[in-house]
Amino acid sequence: MNAKNNCIVIFGASGDLTHRKLIPALYNLYKIGRLNESFSVLGVARTDMTDEEFRSKMHQALVEHESAEGEHLEKFCSHLYYQAVNTSDASDYAKLVPRLDELHDIYQTCGNTLYYLSTPPSLYGVIPECLAAHGLNTEEFGWKRIIIEKPFGYDMKTAKELDIQIHRFFEEHQIYRIDHYLGKETVQNLLVLRFSNGLFEPLWNRNYIDYVEITGAEEIGVEQRGGYYDGSGAMRDMFQNHLLQVLAMVAMEPPAIINADSMRDETAKVLYCLHPLEQETLQNNLVLGQYAPTEHDGEHINGYLEEKGVPSDSTTETYMALRCEIDNWRWAGVPFYVRTGKRLPTRVTEVVIHFKKTPHPVFSQEAPENKLILRIQPDEGISMRFGLKKPGAGFDAQEVSMDFSYSDLSGASLLTAYERLLLDAMKGDATLFARTDAVHACWKFVQPILDYKANGGRVYQYEAGSWGPIEADKLIAHTGRIWRKPSGAMKEKS
Ligand code: BG6
Repeated sequence: MNAKNNCIVIFGASGDLTHRKLIPALYNLYKIGRLNESFSVLGVARTDMTDEEFRSKMHQALVEHESAEGEHLEKFCSHLYYQAVNTSDASDYAKLVPRLDELHDIYQTCGNTLYYLSTPPSLYGVIPECLAAHGLNTEEFGWKRIIIEKPFGYDMKTAKELDIQIHRFFEEHQIYRIDHYLGKETVQNLLVLRFSNGLFEPLWNRNYIDYVEITGAEEIGVEQRGGYYDGSGAMRDMFQNHLLQVLAMVAMEPPAIINADSMRDETAKVLYCLHPLEQETLQNNLVLGQYAPTEHDGEHINGYLEEKGVPSDSTTETYMALRCEIDNWRWAGVPFYVRTGKRLPTRVTEVVIHFKKTPHPVFSQEAPENKLILRIQPDEGISMRFGLKKPGAGFDAQEVSMDFSYSDLSGASLLTAYERLLLDAMKGDATLFARTDAVHACWKFVQPILDYKANGGRVYQYEAGSWGPIEADKLIAHTGRIWRKPSGAMKEKS
């Protein structure tokens, strides 16, 4: 199904996300025919710019980032418009009314409007109120939806306050909290793998699974985003949202049907069942780290404190590893080890399901572990690891693997996360967007970590390019387990 006729209003149109992600995503949807001709994009920001200037900036970005060219590019850009608005001044939003009336008229969009807040979070509460002051939130003339980028709040208290502010002017069915991890094809594939096969689900519980490892590793540092990142850290930037959503997909019960309510009921249940973290036990279950300067092949790699925009005495964590448990029937007693960090050896996001050993060692040599590796990125796929007989005398086992790579599915044109999520929002499908109760459950779970950190919880140093502080190995090793050290390519053994 294609997107319905609508006008997409992007607040923060002069920002990075707009030209790096949003406009490219809309352009690609247009190119493959998923947007019909009746759409328009109205960029909004404080900077003065004409429609022509905005078009030419976006045109340039598309040429640079997407190698766009030709008729599609020109036609797409003709749908772009711009309006300068002082976004913190409610009266200035009056300028949007005639602009939107005109666009709805030209493109016959029946008043359907999608607002995208790609602004600093301090405006998330302000923009809905200012839109409402001019009646731009009401659904009497077409639907009105609002997409909000993370972070949804800064902690439990501010998340609740933000929700109250937004809910004063938009109803929950109009609010789309975007978490781009949910738009990733392979995150969605977790559901299909689990619930469309009879093979895995019977084993997917505490009786057969020893532990679960979730890794979100990045090779890059904080780059130009030091200012933002320092107020956020790995916990708020990756764990509280992206990785907890992945965990919920791994652990959820089958939904009654695939629709937004049913799916989000199940993920929220998992998040509510996370075993509450306690200050007394946290230091045995949590490791925080910050990357230190390193010399590599004669080259100096900046430590976090040397990055632009980062105060020289910052204690913000760029790495975190946590052991947690889910208190429910399916998962009682199964540890989930989750880690994420910047400046690790490679970029990889994966889930590893470690199955229990055989109940009795028939052969003299210890059998290899059975594990299922779900590679979310970069080389999306699935690898099953198990033991087979080593050729020759005796009954020794060696680890072998059965690998599936997403790229083998020929003819598949994968939508990027932003393409998929923008399209879903235009179609009114909120299945892959975070619902308010799930967001609160995530904050409730991580609040003790924030408190631990605020009370001086230790942040260990680790060398840029390593797998994080050595203390993280101890976190998992006390039960004889080790972190997988994945390489960039899934097929390489590790
Ligand atoms: C963003 C974080 O939400 O996700 C970034 O703010 C992080 O710090 C990024 O780099 C990771 O996303 P992806 O899709 O590259 O794994």
